Amino acid sequence: MMRLVYFGSGYVGQVNAAVQASKGHDVVLVDVDESIIKSINSGKPTIYEKGLEPLIKQAVDAGKLKATLDFRQAVKDSEVIFICVGTPSNPDGSIDLRAIKSVSKNIGLVLKECVDNKVVVFKSTVLPWVPVEMKKYIEKITEQKISVVMNPEFLKEGLAVNDCLNPDSIVIGGDLEGVEVVKRVYEWSSVKPSITGLKEASLVKYAKNSFLATKISFANVIANYCDECGLNAKEVLRVMAEDERINPRFLRNGPGFGGSCFPKDVNALMNDMKGDLLLKAVLDVNRDQYKQMIRLAERVTKLEGTVAVLGLAFKPGTDDVRESPAIKLVKELVNRDLKVRVYDPQAIDNAMKELSGVTPCQSVGECVQDADVIFIPVPWPEFNNVREYSPAPIIQGHPLIIGLNVFTLGAFSF
Ligand code: UDX
Repeated sequence: MMRLVYFGSGYVGQVNAAVQASKGHDVVLVDVDESIIKSINSGKPTIYEKGLEPLIKQAVDAGKLKATLDFRQAVKDSEVIFICVGTPSNPDGSIDLRAIKSVSKNIGLVLKECVDNKVVVFKSTVLPWVPVEMKKYIEKITEQKISVVMNPEFLKEGLAVNDCLNPDSIVIGGDLEGVEVVKRVYEWSSVKPSITGLKEASLVKYAKNSFLATKISFANVIANYCDECGLNAKEVLRVMAEDERINPRFLRNGPGFGGSCFPKDVNALMNDMKGDLLLKAVLDVNRDQYKQMIRLAERVTKLEGTVAVLGLAFKPGTDDVRESPAIKLVKELVNRDLKVRVYDPQAIDNAMKELSGVTPCQSVGECVQDADVIFIPVPWPEFNNVREYSPAPIIQGHPLIIGLNVFTLGAFSF
């Protein structure tokens, strides 16, 4: 069993720390936010993720996981140091490395006193030159060689615990010694790690996310064209996906991709490529895709009075509203002076920090009561029975059903 420390307790840090502790490693989670530390140490995650709470509770109770503000002691006691802090976008779309630099500096200062073959592993999504630069930066502080490894994270929010326990692939890039150490961390997994260079491992993450985002924007372009010409987009995409070379995954049209990864990562890569035209188009298509729901609504009804929006998270199964197309939709509806009622099974609190001039609701029934139009940008399963509560036309972001008994958009079947 190994002694691991995770810097940063977002989705990647909390989930990885809990999963590795459940596999028997001794894990310490470091953060600068005292409320997160207290919460974890009392057995509670600070994010909503299916299966995470029992995992954290068991690990804390078993003494396998603890959280701390004291990064010095945590680094001194560790064998492998994982960096999982955020890499958000700067206003110009480039990657913001402030958290990465600050953590690298802190680690360097401790390692100066006690290198003893510790390995520094980047899990944060960083461009290929970043781990190379950070290695130089840390080595300048420590005045000796250190082992730096890139081990990108591919978990999906909402399914994060399951993805982490059963990864599709484990990518480890870096020097031989460091790679061997990180391989041992994952010895419990049946997946054979893919070993690459340090920079290649970093790019794999961007390349995968950009490819999947491209697929989604492509599906949206095709679906929008179908809407325009009165074709059944769902049918076209379904049959297209029967080709094994294409497959149905990430080919679902909708209000656009959101979340903490796709928009930011495509942007950062495009920026680093000095404005690559394909990636630019992917982002351009995505930026306004939520408006397709409004265009569809205006075909069936006058958009006035009260509208209900069911779903605010960036996708079902999460409380995360970062870059959520549903939030963009609500803001646009408010700007049009509509009375907007909103509901989400998990994300309502996070959403209300972003929204003003809307009425938050506690249930589907309360939200759609008296609504003239119902938007469902996020297909949470509990919205399937919305028809029980209201006869208003329904505009869904994903493969679309409109109005059931009330409206049938024959010409524009989705
Ligand atoms: C993504 C990657 O899948 C994951 O590997 C990486 O580690 C982080 O980024 P995540 O952001 O959690 O994960 O969500 P994901 O399920 O991939 O969906 C991203 C966005 O694309 C969501 O807004 C989702 O609704 C949208 N999407 C997805 C579509 O619009 N159509 C699809 O067919 C699939």
